Amino acid sequence: MAHQGNVWDREYKNPKLVTGKSDPQADTLRFLKFLKKEQKFRVEDRNILDLGCGTGRNANYLADLGNKVIGIEISKTALSLAKTRAQEMGINVDYRQGDIGEKYDIEDESIDVILDITSSNSLDEKGREIYLEEVARVLKSPTSPKATSGKGGCFFVRALCKDGNQNVKNLLKISPGREYDTYVLKDIGLTERVFSREDFIKMYSKYFKILSLEKKTSYTTFNDRIYKRDYWLAYMTK
Ligand SMILES: C[S@@+](CC[C@H](N)C(=O)[O-])C[C@H]1O[C@@H](n2cnc3c(N)ncnc32)[C@H](O)[C@@H]1O
Repeated sequence: MAHQGNVWDREYKNPKLVTGKSDPQADTLRFLKFLKKEQKFRVEDRNILDLGCGTGRNANYLADLGNKVIGIEISKTALSLAKTRAQEMGINVDYRQGDIGEKYDIEDESIDVILDITSSNSLDEKGREIYLEEVARVLKSPTSPKATSGKGGCFFVRALCKDGNQNVKNLLKISPGREYDTYVLKDIGLTERVFSREDFIKMYSKYFKILSLEKKTSYTTFNDRIYKRDYWLAYMTK
């Protein structure tokens, strides 16, 4: 994934797609509300893993709530911003430069909450398989002796959705990547994988129980044009 890592680092040095926001992502806040209200699961004093944590907008927020957070991120530039913000906030996050498509240096069944907020979309098939196995390995199961009051861990994925999005259909046609349902964003050289509902369910349900799967539309500015982006928001357990 060295190539994609360079692409992301360039993107953070000269942003065309990512935002410089430091407040937590709105979908993350909704997920936390779901955990608290529907699952009676308080997100305090938990072990949290943020995959592709970027500049730390979610990781720093969660650490500030009193959780122990590990953030894995491929871009050195993003990580340095994340660390500076953590320092300014007076909090501690275990930021690690690494590839989420390679094995994690994390104990089995030790994590309560895992976030993948639009990060694994840029993995290739081989990396995605390792990511799925690693998340399943480190996430607590309800039967684990480490689980708190019989509750297992929860996994939140926000991933690019293919269904009903004309922009995605055009990109798959005019700028296809090498692997299934991928396209290359030529301006930044980034390959993205998109998922149909069926495809998403088939892939994740091999490892996880899907509690909720919802499609959400957002708008992104890219090169001064507004694009409609559709996302899957999935809440999962083991
Ligand atoms: C769209 S950004 C989202 C950042 C962050 N999750 C957020 O919500 O603000 C995707 C992030 O995933 C990181 N990323 C992409 N591929 C990665 C990989 N293989 N390993 C680690 N991080 C990766 C990128 O550098 C980027 O920071």
